[in-house]
Amino acid sequence: MKKVLVLGSGAREVAITRSVSQSSIKNAIFCISKDINPQINDICEDYHVCDISDIGNVVSYSKEKEIDLVIVGPENPLASGVVNALERAGVKCVGPKKEVAMIETSKSFARMIVDLCCPEKNPQRKEFVSIGGVKNFMEILGGEYVIKFDGLMGGKGVRVSGEHLKNINEGLNYANEIVSGGGKFLVEEKLIGEEFSLMSFVDGKTCKHMPVVQDHKRAFDGDTGPNTGGMGTYSFGNHSLPFLTKEDILEAQKTNELVAKQLLKHTGSPYVGVLYGGFMLTKNGVKVIEYNARFGDPEAMNVLSILKSDFLSICISLIEGKLEKEEVLFDELATVCKYVVPVGYPNNPAKGFEVFCDQNDPSLFLASVMLKNQKLLACGSRTAAVIGKNKDIWKAEAFSEEGVSNISGKLFHRKDIGTKDLIDSRVKRMKELLG
Ligand code: AMP
Ligand code: GLY
Repeated sequence: MKKVLVLGSGAREVAITRSVSQSSIKNAIFCISKDINPQINDICEDYHVCDISDIGNVVSYSKEKEIDLVIVGPENPLASGVVNALERAGVKCVGPKKEVAMIETSKSFARMIVDLCCPEKNPQRKEFVSIGGVKNFMEILGGEYVIKFDGLMGGKGVRVSGEHLKNINEGLNYANEIVSGGGKFLVEEKLIGEEFSLMSFVDGKTCKHMPVVQDHKRAFDGDTGPNTGGMGTYSFGNHSLPFLTKEDILEAQKTNELVAKQLLKHTGSPYVGVLYGGFMLTKNGVKVIEYNARFGDPEAMNVLSILKSDFLSICISLIEGKLEKEEVLFDELATVCKYVVPVGYPNNPAKGFEVFCDQNDPSLFLASVMLKNQKLLACGSRTAAVIGKNKDIWKAEAFSEEGVSNISGKLFHRKDIGTKDLIDSRVKRMKELLG
C-alpha cells in the first residue's frame, strides 16, 4: 500500500489524484491545500487544510500519516523549499529541491542554465536591477522586446512589446514599476513564432518525454488581452503539433535532457519530477521561452488524460531513480482542454458567485472553487477545466465545448482554442515565417 500525498487543489491536482487513484498499485491518497476541492475530497482518504507553503505543517502531517511519496502540484511550495524539508525528514518527493526549482522561480537562472548547455536556444537578453541602460538595450533590440519580472508571477509578470506595451515609454514605465518594488527584471529579444510545451518525467538521470501541447496564455479569443495562467490547451493524436517537424520535437526533447543534466552539474542536486520546457519555433529554429519545475496547468489534463502507463508506477520510478526501466506510453488521441474563468479574469475577476456543474463528470476538473453551505463558489482564479478527447481533434474540441456548456456561473472561456480556424491560421503563419 502506497500512501501518496498531493500538494495543491487545482484542476492539475484533480488530474494527478485521479491518475494515482487509477493505478494498479494499491494506494491511499492524501491532500493538503488551503481550500477543499470537492473532486479531490471524493477520492482522498484525508484532506488537510493548510497553506501548502507552510513547510513545518506539511512535514509534520506527512510524518503523522506515514506518507511514502509526495507529489507537488504548483510552484510556490517548490520555491519555499518544501521538497528539501520533506526529504530531510525522510519523505520522498516528485518535485525538485528549491535550488533546482530555480529553473522556474528565477528567469535569469533559467537563462544562465540554458546558456551553459545550449546557448543557441536563448534569445538575446540583459538583466537589470535599475532603469539605467534599459532604454538603450530596448533600442538595440529594435524596439521589439519583452520585459520579464525575475520571479514567480503566475505567468503574469511578462509584458511583450507591440502587445502589452505599445511603445518604449510604456516599457520603461513597467520597468520602473518593478524597480520601485525592489525587483529584478530581464529585457529579452521578442521571439516570433509558435509556442509549444514539452514536459518530461525526470529521475535525475533519465528523461521520458510526454506529447507536446500548445497552451493559450492570452485571456481572450484571437490571442488578445492580458497574459493568464493558461486559458486552454490542445494536443494531436500523433503527439506532435501540425506546425512542428519530428526534428523540432527531437530538438526540444534534447534541450530538456541537456537542461536536466546541467541542473545536476550546476547545483549538485538531481532534478526529480516533471520538467516543463516552454518553447517557440522561430525562423531561426526552436528557442526556449521559459522553464517550469512541475506539470503545466492545463497541460497536465491533456497528457494525464491519455497516459496509458501506470502513473503511480512512474512516480515511484522517479523517486527511486529507475525511470529508464519504466514504460511511459500515451494513447494516440487528440485532446482539447478549455478553462472557464470568472468574468473580469485575470485583472479584476468576479469572486464568491455560485458555480453550477456536474461534479461527477470525469471530463470536468474543478480548480479555484470552494464549498460553502453546500454551495460551490468561485474563488477568483481559473474556475474549472473541461477536457475533450477523441481520435479526431475537431471532435475533441466539440466535446470540450459541450462540457463547457454544462457549467454555469459568471464565467467566460475561449471558444477558439482547438478550433480548425485557429489551428489553420497558426500553421499558415508558421509557413509564412519559415518562408
Ligand atoms: P513566461 O512566463 O516566460 O512563459 O512568459 C509568458 C508568455 O510571454 C509566453 O508564453 C510568451 O507568450 C511570452 N514571452 C515570453 N518570453 C518571450 C520572448 N522572449 N519572446 C516572445 N514572447 C515571449
Ligand atoms: N500552462 C502554463 C503553466 O503551467 O505555467
